[in-house]
Amino acid sequence: MVTVSNPPNSPRSAKKPAGTPPVIGAAPVGSRDPESAARAVREMFTSIAPRYDLLNHVLSFNVDRFWWRRTARSFAQVLARPDARVLDLCCGTGDMTLALHRKAATPEIVGVDFSHAMLERASKKSSSLRWVEADALCLPFPASHFDLVTSAFGFRNFADYDAGLREILRVLRDGGECGILDFGEPRGVIGKLYRIYFQHVLPALGTLISGVKGPYAYLPASVERFPEPKEMLERMRHAGFREVSWTPYSFGIAGLFRGKK
Ligand SMILES: C[S@@+](CC[C@H](N)C(=O)[O-])C[C@H]1O[C@@H](n2cnc3c(N)ncnc32)[C@H](O)[C@@H]1O
Repeated sequence: MVTVSNPPNSPRSAKKPAGTPPVIGAAPVGSRDPESAARAVREMFTSIAPRYDLLNHVLSFNVDRFWWRRTARSFAQVLARPDARVLDLCCGTGDMTLALHRKAATPEIVGVDFSHAMLERASKKSSSLRWVEADALCLPFPASHFDLVTSAFGFRNFADYDAGLREILRVLRDGGECGILDFGEPRGVIGKLYRIYFQHVLPALGTLISGVKGPYAYLPASVERFPEPKEMLERMRHAGFREVSWTPYSFGIAGLFRGKK
């Protein structure tokens, strides 16, 4: 396992003109400000909710299951505590939440998402977990409440990344851990092949299966816009996280950011 606290720049950083201002957050086509960006993201996921699971597994060749399990395993220590409180942000249809649940000795696991249609599907998979409809940038939980906060493939969609990090930090207790799993941009030959798949094949297949055009063009654009690991770790440090690191999964196609409060 490679865990890096100071990862090299991705190939795309060389193309970024010097002085480019830092990205605030996701900006789907047509959004003008963080509020309209968040609305567009919620509508987008709501529109693909009926086909989300199928698309996820097909488009990732089922590797998504491995990434969720690996993420859950990497927090085995905190999950083994029978009194730990766990929050899975942007839980969608609940697969990351369920992967945490399978490893956990604690019953205190909450999945949060702001798309009602996604949460409905999550609650059908498990009625024993708690599912809460809320915006991750404004959580309905007290400060210093959770021992672990995770997010799988959701953080990248936040309208304001720094505000998202501050909100995670607020709800974590001192010593609590955070794990953000999201897509990355692999380097080298694998990176070149992957970019062809991700930018051309995946949007076409996604549109065909879901019957909805926007979301699968948004996906590669949002990954390209997302801060690369070096910058993301810097933002985590700046927000107040310590012991920050990034572990690439599957040649860096995805990766896990970790930090402690
Ligand atoms: C790509 S899906 C990931 C779902 C699940 N975690 C998984 O790994 O399959 C992203 C989810 O994040 C949710 N989301 C995005 N921004 C959010 C926010 N600000 N607050 C709550 N949920 C958000 C979306 O509604 C969507 O269900």
